[in-house]
Amino acid sequence: MTSTCFDYARAHENQFLDELKAFLQIPSVSTQAEHRPDMIRAAVWLRDQLLAIGFPRAEVMPTHGHPIIYAEWLAAGPEKPTVLIYGHYDVQPPEPFELWHTPPFEPTVIGDNLFARGASDDKGQLFVHVKALEAFQQTAGAPPVNIKMLIEGEEEIGSPSLDPFIREHQDLLRADVALISDSHILGKDLPTIVYALRGMAYVEVEVTGPASDLHSGIYGGAVHNPINALCAMIAKLQDEDGRILIPGFYDKVRDLEPEERAELAKIPFDREVWLAEAGVIRDWGEPGYTIIERTMARPTLDVNGIWGGYTQPGAKTVLPAKAFAKISMRLVPDQKPGEISRLIAEYFRALAPATVTVEVRDLHGGEGAIVRRDSPEMAAAFRAYKAAFGREPILVREGGSIPVVAAFQKMLGIDTILMGFGLPDDNLHAPNEKLAVSNFHRGVQTSLHFLTNLAEL
Ligand code: BES
Ligand code: ZN
Repeated sequence: MTSTCFDYARAHENQFLDELKAFLQIPSVSTQAEHRPDMIRAAVWLRDQLLAIGFPRAEVMPTHGHPIIYAEWLAAGPEKPTVLIYGHYDVQPPEPFELWHTPPFEPTVIGDNLFARGASDDKGQLFVHVKALEAFQQTAGAPPVNIKMLIEGEEEIGSPSLDPFIREHQDLLRADVALISDSHILGKDLPTIVYALRGMAYVEVEVTGPASDLHSGIYGGAVHNPINALCAMIAKLQDEDGRILIPGFYDKVRDLEPEERAELAKIPFDREVWLAEAGVIRDWGEPGYTIIERTMARPTLDVNGIWGGYTQPGAKTVLPAKAFAKISMRLVPDQKPGEISRLIAEYFRALAPATVTVEVRDLHGGEGAIVRRDSPEMAAAFRAYKAAFGREPILVREGGSIPVVAAFQKMLGIDTILMGFGLPDDNLHAPNEKLAVSNFHRGVQTSLHFLTNLAEL
């Protein structure tokens, strides 16, 4: 007797989890050059998985950086929709190692959690769909809709090769809707669909003072210290409430409509729990906006790192030659990353005292996006979550960034369904990243329902 795809997935949960562990063992850290061979290994591993579960075509395609995996399975026929599934096989660096309770590349299940770098972001989440497709293959011979997969290895470093790849392969990637699982739901029993993402502009600032490091006793008081100068400039980027002072920064910010504010206010939110999760005693930020609004729908500016001079143990009386800072800004529709990087560079030049020189370099950027909430595909996603989680999902915006969503809108003319299976406390980009095992398995069920629903549209 042939079982349904849903039964097959339930019967093979242990196998799926073991395979995910094998994928997570490969340290595919895109930003660290010594992991280049691991990046290739991860890409080849995934391609072989896709071939093994029945994809007639799956290729590791070279780019100037880490390779992209492209696969397609167009067995459903031209009258059925085509779904473009995007994910990323690269992960953030695991450091600092000493803060991990289990080794980052030795996936470990404790209770309902699978701990490993990439468990949630994004190997575990993209693997959900791979296993759903296997269930279709094993029970029906092929998925009920046409599938294209685009899995990149540079998401965590700003996707430098992705836009050119999409532009160059517009025909190959042509689809009716995109599907991405690289975000989270609000709770294990609180399924959530993200309909908006923030964008990003990321710059590095280099301030140069004297031609070389100087003795701070001999020159201090008469030579401007570039670290002091940099801190003074950074202090002028924002007022004490977090309002950004870069001229023109808010010009394109789309205001929140009263209806949307009312919708966001309905999102379940416990202030005390939020404070405890963040590990802070009180919140901070733009007056007049709730925490939900500030983290999901307002732009931000954060100094991500600042260095220069002497930072080793003990004291050194140096007047340093240089100071550096990395600064990122989360953007909302319709702020453009290139324009915002230009505005902050101009502002730094205007703030720079005549005693130092300032260089602002653009590291990377990505646009935010808002997707349609009233499409038939969105309705299909709602029904899928309802079937797998037993509860209707709620719609939220997301503070993180997945720039490919805007790229798909612009270059392929399609919207994305952001079907997350992570949780807010998955420790993304931090020690002890995890994925709830139950979310992984429910994710497979949700994917099966979603693709089945799409085929019936
Ligand atoms: N998976 C995240 C995006 C995300 C984070 C979605 C939190 C939902 C909740 C993604 O891998 C990521 O970290 N993106 C970067 C993008 C940046 C490098 C342009 C980010 O948001 O910092
Ligand atoms: Zn991610």
